[in-house]
Amino acid sequence: MPRLTIREVQAMKERGEKIPMLTAYDYPVARMVDEAGIPLVLVGDSLGQVVLGYDSTIPVTMEDMLHHIKAVVRGSQRALVIGDLPFMSYHASAEDALRNSGRFLQEGGCQAVKLEGGTSVAPTVKRLVECGIPVMGHIGLTPQSVNQLGGYRVQGKTPEAAARLLEDALALEAAGAFCIVLECVPTPLAALITGRLAAPTIGIGAGAGCDGQVQVISDMLGLFTDFVPKHAKQYAVLADTIKSALAAYAAEVRGGQFPSAKQSYTMDESLLTSLYGPSPRIKLVGESQG
Ligand code: KIV
Repeated sequence: MPRLTIREVQAMKERGEKIPMLTAYDYPVARMVDEAGIPLVLVGDSLGQVVLGYDSTIPVTMEDMLHHIKAVVRGSQRALVIGDLPFMSYHASAEDALRNSGRFLQEGGCQAVKLEGGTSVAPTVKRLVECGIPVMGHIGLTPQSVNQLGGYRVQGKTPEAAARLLEDALALEAAGAFCIVLECVPTPLAALITGRLAAPTIGIGAGAGCDGQVQVISDMLGLFTDFVPKHAKQYAVLADTIKSALAAYAAEVRGGQFPSAKQSYTMDESLLTSLYGPSPRIKLVGESQG
């Protein structure tokens, strides 16, 4: 089955069709996301926090990202998979950006890359697009700049900051970005930016006026519970389900109920007896008598 293309993403905006996007980091979850018909799958550098346990996305490396991108690509068939360029993989030069984006597409197998920043990265976006690499922009709260921003805060609240964000969005679009993530941007500003762009916007904490929405899958499934951002909605709390399953397993191992006959393999015990003499009799739950 062919994967979704960036032209089809553009057509969704033109038809007024909202675009759902989720992150995924491994094979089984990518399969579920794909089977649920989510058209855009981001292998986000948020994996630094929700999978690898760092306290920001700054330590995430190219090798970390490639490892997870490959798994998500193997797990999906239909979705357009976007690889998130990690901190410092595209900042020093357009050549770095090209080499690293090329690795994402060639080695990782994803179809597009995402990078953070507006006017300052527009020339890099242009260069990547000229080389045939689809680019998703990301403005507003850009977590790789957390140290510069002074924390994870809503962006664009003053007239000057709002004007800068609009300018950033227009610069990314002019450079050829096929889609732009708006993170933690007040709803009216995100709606205004969305209305000014031909390219689709994908919001996270940017209100319902965006063309699409993205959520970190570990937040929306309640798997990562160290903190739950205001913009995240928990559609399930899998951490609780998993913890009760783990407790049940431990209790059954301790109580001898696991493994039962159903999870065990039998053999002709007389073979062992003839070689080694009688062996201890293991009574399994669910085993037939005799
Ligand atoms: O890394 C990530 O998951 C992201 C999304 C929150 C857009 O950048």
